[in-house]
Amino acid sequence: MSRTVPQRGACSRRNGNLTLGEVTETVRPVRMTEQSIAAYDVSQRVKTYDADMELMHPNRSKMVQVAIEVLPFPRTAALRAIDLGIGTGYFTKQFLDHFPNSRVLGIDGAQAMVELAKARLTSLASRVQFVIGDFRNLQQLAPGADMADVVFSAYALHHLGRTDKERVLREVVELLVPGGWFINADLIVADSPELESRLQELRVAGIVERAGGSDNRFADLTSTRQFLADLERKEADNPLTLAEDLALLQSSGLKNVSAFWLEHRELVSGGQK
Ligand SMILES: C[S@@+](CC[C@H](N)C(=O)[O-])C[C@H]1O[C@@H](n2cnc3c(N)ncnc32)[C@H](O)[C@@H]1O
Repeated sequence: MSRTVPQRGACSRRNGNLTLGEVTETVRPVRMTEQSIAAYDVSQRVKTYDADMELMHPNRSKMVQVAIEVLPFPRTAALRAIDLGIGTGYFTKQFLDHFPNSRVLGIDGAQAMVELAKARLTSLASRVQFVIGDFRNLQQLAPGADMADVVFSAYALHHLGRTDKERVLREVVELLVPGGWFINADLIVADSPELESRLQELRVAGIVERAGGSDNRFADLTSTRQFLADLERKEADNPLTLAEDLALLQSSGLKNVSAFWLEHRELVSGGQK
């Protein structure tokens, strides 16, 4: 069962292309027991989400900037894009600002995050179609081969297990037009436990320093480590190593696969169909 809620407009297919009207939200059934979605469909988590991202991922803005810069399209292009795990709309907003004639299909399983995305996107929302659903069912959520010029994602795909990620990437490649791009800003894990442990130390120390004693959760190294461990368990994190990530992009059928930016446990990678 699915419910489509058109608000002042609708999306339609014309000449085989997905054309988006004004704000449209499609709700697909989601198994809310799915951990990586349920973890974000909590009002308390959503309220502090963007402020927490600034504390926990200070490279977020840089990563999205690099991801957008890599895309070899003129700024005037009318691109059809998909955001996997749109969350509060951070990446989509930067994308729409950069490509003012483009449109985004924003998929997320957490209604609460999407509500915040709508608030963030305000006037830009007329260029976004929101779909509430599990992106592991991508073909059902965004049907139609060769319909997207760009598929992008930030901090979302590391929630997938390896088999799911392989399948989603294959579906992404099917959705892309020839020459289209997939670009992902996400977390990775180090190659060895020793290196992972060192990078985690740096990560935790950075968060404590940025929080500057103003947040009990990040008061010291121990409480921060505990907070992150609880969060990662709740969200079912499953990051790949750099080599695994790039190999998966290659095996999905993308060319020009590269790591465009990398620092410690954060990576911007992608490739072209
Ligand atoms: C860490 S947030 C990232 C949000 C946004 N892309 C950003 O950069 O801030 C991860 C998002 O992915 C969504 N998500 C996780 N697993 C999902 C799945 N299988 N299907 C749909 N959405 C999912 C969550 O609901 C959440 O909004």
